Amino acid sequence: MEGNSHATIKVLLVFSFVANLAVFSHQASTPCHLREYKTGLVCICNATYCDYLEDPSPSDENEFVIVSTSKAGLRFDTVRGLNNITEKTHILDFDERLQEGEGKKLKNVIHKVTSSPATRRVSIHVDREKIRQKITGFGGSFTGAVRYILENLPQKLQDHVYKPFYSQQGIGFNLMRTPIGGCDFDLEPWAYNELPVNDTALSNFTALDARERKIIEQIKRLKEVTNLENLRIKGAAWSSPKWMKTNNKWAGSSRLKQEYYQTWAYYHLRWMELWAANGLPIWAISTGNEPLNGVGFMPFVRFMSLGWTPGKQAIWLSENLGPTIRAKYNKTVIFGNDDQRYTFAFWFKLMRLSRPDSLDYLSGLSVHWYWDEIFEPSFIDIAHKQMPDKIMLISESCIGDKPWQKKTPILGSWKRGEKMARGFLQNLQNNINGWLDWNIVLNEEGGPNYVNNFVDSPMIVNMTNRLELYKQPMFYTMGHFSKFIPEGSVRIAAERSNINVDTIGFLRPDGSIALIVFNSGFASVNVSIVDTKRCSISLQIPQKSIHTVLYN
Ligand SMILES: *[C@@H]1O[C@H](CO)[C@@H](O)[C@H](O)[C@H]1NC(C)=O
Ligand SMILES: *[C@@H]1O[C@H](CO)[C@@H](O)[C@H](O)[C@H]1NC(C)=O
Ligand SMILES: *[C@@H]1O[C@H](CO)[C@@H](O)[C@H](O)[C@H]1NC(C)=O
Ligand SMILES: *[C@@H]1O[C@H](CO)[C@@H](O)[C@H](O)[C@H]1NC(C)=O
Ligand SMILES: *[C@@H]1O[C@H](CO)[C@@H](O)[C@H](O)[C@H]1NC(C)=O
Ligand SMILES: *[C@@H]1O[C@H](CO)[C@@H](O)[C@H](O)[C@H]1NC(C)=O
Ligand SMILES: *[C@@H]1O[C@H](CO)[C@@H](O)[C@H](O)[C@H]1NC(C)=O
Repeated sequence: MEGNSHATIKVLLVFSFVANLAVFSHQASTPCHLREYKTGLVCICNATYCDYLEDPSPSDENEFVIVSTSKAGLRFDTVRGLNNITEKTHILDFDERLQEGEGKKLKNVIHKVTSSPATRRVSIHVDREKIRQKITGFGGSFTGAVRYILENLPQKLQDHVYKPFYSQQGIGFNLMRTPIGGCDFDLEPWAYNELPVNDTALSNFTALDARERKIIEQIKRLKEVTNLENLRIKGAAWSSPKWMKTNNKWAGSSRLKQEYYQTWAYYHLRWMELWAANGLPIWAISTGNEPLNGVGFMPFVRFMSLGWTPGKQAIWLSENLGPTIRAKYNKTVIFGNDDQRYTFAFWFKLMRLSRPDSLDYLSGLSVHWYWDEIFEPSFIDIAHKQMPDKIMLISESCIGDKPWQKKTPILGSWKRGEKMARGFLQNLQNNINGWLDWNIVLNEEGGPNYVNNFVDSPMIVNMTNRLELYKQPMFYTMGHFSKFIPEGSVRIAAERSNINVDTIGFLRPDGSIALIVFNSGFASVNVSIVDTKRCSISLQIPQKSIHTVLYN
């Protein structure tokens, strides 16, 4: 590490044009209203107040911007500097900023984090000529649980669910996942055309269910209040109606009966047509949520599923779903797999063996992040190497699903915020093009969920008084990516000199750079960012913090 530090100093001398934080200005947006719970800090929104951050992009060539979130209470704290003045380097004191802002009310927290001078350092070398994957975007999911919660909130509070996630003043989501029919995050299991049974014509699936019409109404409101024109909606079915399945049940080991392969393909087409007819065209569908949940060895999954082996799913995709969708919608992105990372190593290989042309119908590969701590990103690499042109999305993520995790939300958990940040960094460093998180909002117990499969969410609503929303640290750590890496950005090389921080860099469509720097350690770190095309920026970042640095 010593050797590295010397190298860092040399680099700094070569690029002796060291940036200075010549001006300080607090962003003129609405700051987070912090509240401290025993478990951590959340930002509170109510009908009349919610925190937002206007686009803080640097206004010209000379300016750079640092947006910061920390365990101690910074939430999208924004500082601007000029990098064209050659005075002494200014070290940004985040503790001081914390005390100036909302943090001054939180004496105990401040006391705990007041840091001594940094004992660690790192340099990050950014090279915008070295280009990696393109970004499709980021988003969350609109389930029956989300619909139910929103329905029960006053309109003004509903809008403070939509805008924080999907507006430019929020965290700029552009993707959305929604179930085709029911899923576990709903009041009960359901599908279209449950009756009449054995009905290959789907004679009772001629209009959308009232629950989905409600969701459509809510999404339209979301689009209106966020000014979001290009919302990309991705659908996935958890289960077919029971009569199409070998076990005639919602959960448990099942397969699609072969005589209904084409019916199940039409079911997807009809769903897409009805959403389009209701004003929301569908961007993408998947071949089905977590197909292995319905295969014999997963009896602990108690919610709706439809079991597929890769071989059988390849036949259905190649002979039924693929041709049926393509005949009408030739641009729809069809995503394969939609299951855990460990399946990526074999799933597509076995599909290819079964029906070589099946993979041609897929323009995307989607994967759930739940087992990332156990299975290495090399599982993704295997699929990516075989099919480098396909879009790879994380299509589901949340915390609280594991037996060893607390299943309900933990208000203000920084640990969970960090876990999301680590997940985003690792997957984006491994060619993932975008990320869909799970329910955008849940109640205090992490539901509703018809089998009590409760989990955490970036936003929790107080369903007791229906007056307050709690924005978790996860909301901000995800936002450090989604807000600043718009669709069409490309990842660029950002090499760190040691592991004192983690980092990733992007070239945005407007030509500016967004560099994310994550310090998960218990000490502050001196960071110098060295851009091959520009200059250096030096800053000291506090323990347990994440930053997005923007410059041209
Ligand atoms: C809403 O939040 C703001 C900011 O915290 C606060 O000033 C206001 O009193 C709250 N309104 C209600 C009705 O609680
Ligand atoms: C630095 O940039 C600012 C903003 O573009 C400009 O007003 C100022 O004159 C520049 N200063 C120097 C020393 O070039
Ligand atoms: C970090 O920067 C501060 C201020 O320049 C300096 O006092 C300190 O020694 C630096 N720490 C390391 C490890 O480089
Ligand atoms: C069509 O579906 C609805 C809702 O599930 C059900 O109430 C109705 O009985 C079904 N119609 C027929 C003809 O089965
Ligand atoms: C539906 O199909 C199954 C399997 O072929 C059969 O056992 C059942 O009697 C049929 N039900 C009706 C109402 O036709
Ligand atoms: C998709 O369909 C449109 C109109 O139906 C046609 O013009 C276009 O060439 C098709 N594109 C592809 C890639 O098949
Ligand atoms: C939710 O509101 C109820 C009723 O006002 C209150 O007792 C409870 O503490 C609130 N929950 C949280 C997490 O603040």
